Amino acid sequence: MNTQEQLDALAQEIIDTKLCPELGAQATQLVMGDGRPDADIVFIGEAPGKKEDLDGVPFVGASGKFLNAMLEAAGMSRSDVYITNIVKYRPPGNRDPLPAEKAAFLPYLLRQLDIIAPKVVVTLGRHSMEYFLPGAKIGEVHGQLHQVRIDDHEYTVVPLFHPAAALYNGSLRQTLVDDFVRIPEMIE
Ligand code: URA
Repeated sequence: MNTQEQLDALAQEIIDTKLCPELGAQATQLVMGDGRPDADIVFIGEAPGKKEDLDGVPFVGASGKFLNAMLEAAGMSRSDVYITNIVKYRPPGNRDPLPAEKAAFLPYLLRQLDIIAPKVVVTLGRHSMEYFLPGAKIGEVHGQLHQVRIDDHEYTVVPLFHPAAALYNGSLRQTLVDDFVRIPEMIE
């Protein structure tokens, strides 16, 4: 199986095992990920919102437009990277994903990363940062490379602010953009 086929099989497994059935029942569909299945950079958000749920694609709403603009500013496009979320069903009313929901999706996220094998994992916001850097404060660690070991796997992680948090906050927005455009040089 090629990388995309492995990702498709993993998505089907999430559906077949009826992971988080209450979430799944309220969602339009599973939102697995978007972009290059063997990308060097994987971005991990929180959970799909309304538009993502309808389209089946992560980050296509307001934060997605901002993410696309930052990718362009950094000399990349969505097809160069892979974009996903921790929780792959939309939480009703856009509430925060529950700890149990995030925990249920964690093994699948790690398997997804295993398949893609990126050089760098970029977490967007505190929910996905918590997975890799438990207890870290985003204000202190954003934009820096961290080597993280989980279950025999090494990850190079760069935590960033979430685009939705930065969208309407001028100084946070500038911080996020500044961190973002440094990603390509960090990979070198
Ligand atoms: N916010 C997220 O965290 N993920 C999306 O897919 C869209 C908005």
